[in-house]
Amino acid sequence: MMDNIWILLVTAFFLSTVILYRNRFRLKSKFRNQLPLGTLGWPFIGETIEFVSCAYSDRPETFMDKRRRMYGKVFKSHIFGSPTIVSTDAEVNKFILQSDAKVFVPSYPRSLTELMGESSILLINGSLQRRIHGLIGAFFKSQQLKAQITRDMQKYVQESMANWREDHPIFIQDETKNIAFQVLVKVLISLDPGEEMELLKKQFQVFISGLMSLPIKLPGTKLYQSLQAKKKMVKLVKKTIQAKRNRGISEVPKDVVDVLLNDASKQLTDDLIADNMIDMMIPGEDSVPVLMTLATKYLSECPAALQQLTEENMKLKKLKEELGEPLCWRDYLSLPFTQTVITETLRMGNVIIGVMRKAMKDVEIKGYLIPKGWCVFAYFRSVHLDESNYDWPYQFNPWRWQDKDVSSSNFTPFGGGQRLCPGLDLARLEASIFLHHFVTQFRWFAEEDAIVNFPTVRMKRRMPIWVRRVDSSAALVKESMK
Ligand code: HEM
Repeated sequence: MMDNIWILLVTAFFLSTVILYRNRFRLKSKFRNQLPLGTLGWPFIGETIEFVSCAYSDRPETFMDKRRRMYGKVFKSHIFGSPTIVSTDAEVNKFILQSDAKVFVPSYPRSLTELMGESSILLINGSLQRRIHGLIGAFFKSQQLKAQITRDMQKYVQESMANWREDHPIFIQDETKNIAFQVLVKVLISLDPGEEMELLKKQFQVFISGLMSLPIKLPGTKLYQSLQAKKKMVKLVKKTIQAKRNRGISEVPKDVVDVLLNDASKQLTDDLIADNMIDMMIPGEDSVPVLMTLATKYLSECPAALQQLTEENMKLKKLKEELGEPLCWRDYLSLPFTQTVITETLRMGNVIIGVMRKAMKDVEIKGYLIPKGWCVFAYFRSVHLDESNYDWPYQFNPWRWQDKDVSSSNFTPFGGGQRLCPGLDLARLEASIFLHHFVTQFRWFAEEDAIVNFPTVRMKRRMPIWVRRVDSSAALVKESMK
């Protein structure tokens, strides 16, 4: 009897070992067959050092280019502590962007998720994300917001430009940052420039300085300081929310807080709203000024584009002056060449290089396997600079967009799918207003400067330029003689 039990146990053990081994082998060989080619680099650090050193150079995509040549447009790597599938393929990127949270969820460094908190729009998934995204997107698209924000933008742009002097350099990056922050805070919580705005601006700088820090939350660390700064900002926003509640929330929303407070589902608590106002400043704060600064840089290097842009905007200015009407948002967006300048700046500048996701299950796209738990990096920059998509991709050529569709999967500066940037109309409008006032009031000479691409895109010397105010009436007469 005992002998039989032993035989049974040994057989069971033997069989289960064989099955387990076979399964592991099958799994491994399945992965080996379908995982994209590539190398995981060194233990722990993977290929992060090479990635970062390329990212700091003026051609960050060389990391991708080298691997694309060896392994194809989709390859495996190991960056920022995770095995990662990198995609520089427009179709694969499209699939990633269109997928929902059952397939991919956003993946950010630990320090960033600590700072954003678990209810941040940038991190949440499912119905709550769709709800908040939908509410904000609809508000940003509304005519009433565009009309109101155009007036505010014009005011901030004019106020900033009125202070520009001809006897010292103007740092375009600083000027645009200041303008864009005022606009953003106005859109989010209707705060006007003043003491509270200055406090918010100061604390926000402390807050973002911890976004890419070590994830240690002890007093004195960068992350701790950032969290303290966020607390102060949240307190200010909560004060605004309370004041709105005391006054009675306006049914016609004036800002994003109103939109979320008016939400009938009552899912959104004051804490969640206040936290999200700060989190929404992360994608909104830096990107628009970078867009305006890069447009200035590219235009400075392309006189033909600058001339055509100036002529188009002068013409509109003259028309509006003759009609005695102020410019409205439709006027700004109606200028076709100005829009192509912005589109081309987005393509070449790659303000956001790509998005990171984590696979929630094994996913197969175009024959490639992305295993559950792996990160996937949809890298837009390589697609935007691929010569099979764009002739002479490193040349600033706004004219290439004249007969081209901007809604192609080869052009995704604002992402796509469920997380498509809700601020895209706002960003374009703001850049158009800035460019209009800039080119119709000034001529300039740009000093030498270089683009830095990591950790975010910016100018090494903050884009110093020397300006000369143009005599507007003389310029208009010249224009009318054309
Ligand atoms: C040139 C300017 C901008 C660029 C290039 C840009 C780009 C992007 C991209 C690529 C995403 C997708 C992220 C992902 O899929 O994970 C995104 C999301 C987002 N953007 Fe923008 N953005 C810009 C301006 C703005 C502005 C002005 C705002 C707000 C006022 C804003 C608010 C957001 C928000 C809230 C999300 C997250 C949406 C979600 O996950 O549901 N962005 N942006």
